[in-house]
Amino acid sequence: MIGVFDSGFGGLTVLKSIAQRLPEYNYLYLADSARVPYGERSQETVYDYTTQAVDFLFKKGCLLVIIACNTVSSRALRRIQQGFMPGRYPDKKVLGVIRPSAEELLDRGCRKVGILATKGVVDSKIYTEELEGIDPPVEIFYQPCPLLVPIIEAGRHDEDNCDNLVSEYLKRLFNQESAIDTILLSCTHYPILYKSFRRHTPGHVKILSQGPIIADKLGDYLERHSEVEKRLSRGAGRVFFSTGSLEAFDRLALVFYGGPVYARQATLGPPK
Ligand code: DGL
Repeated sequence: MIGVFDSGFGGLTVLKSIAQRLPEYNYLYLADSARVPYGERSQETVYDYTTQAVDFLFKKGCLLVIIACNTVSSRALRRIQQGFMPGRYPDKKVLGVIRPSAEELLDRGCRKVGILATKGVVDSKIYTEELEGIDPPVEIFYQPCPLLVPIIEAGRHDEDNCDNLVSEYLKRLFNQESAIDTILLSCTHYPILYKSFRRHTPGHVKILSQGPIIADKLGDYLERHSEVEKRLSRGAGRVFFSTGSLEAFDRLALVFYGGPVYARQATLGPPK
């Protein structure tokens, strides 16, 4: 199976795109809804929670895990790939969402990019690191949007208050640089507010959501890595786990995933 992990519901926007692009595989989604948001947690805590999550997914039979969460991908992924995986799961893979998103910015020839993300992603300056030394340079402007994830997780994304926050965060971003040509929604939750971002952004500025980007890059990855692809099971299965309320998960999954979902309870603990 292919595992998809996020701190909450947001990663369902990524799973939706991946499953549309690569429908034949079996997917297992895990949301750590009991402990979301991760955005302001320490690097150590994000690492600990994520080792528990990937351990859970591998024990359930995943061969490959996509860390859909930007906060985890920027704060803990490298340590997981280099320090956790080789000793415990040497024949399995964990991939994140930052590198493929940075590649997409390059493929599209973006020059001045606004990154909207959680505080954790912004503090990591991960896109600056990924795109360092590129010629001609890609300039990155970060804007943290700390209030959006809690509001979205509470199912209040339709409220005026949310639209006002989007408008305010965009104002702060464009105050840093008025000639931004592309905005990357570098948080799995934000695509749910796409219309609001679009409404408050000048028409010539592109707004990119990560779902389709990650789906295309995963397709490319599986083409290049037939040794992984051959071992993936097929059957178009979709299984959902949450550490939080299952009733809330199933209700909000209708919004994020766009179809009925019946989640199962997950309990995470330290890998043994
Ligand atoms: N899903 C996380 C991300 O993409 C945001 C939610 C959180 O703060 O946990 O960054």
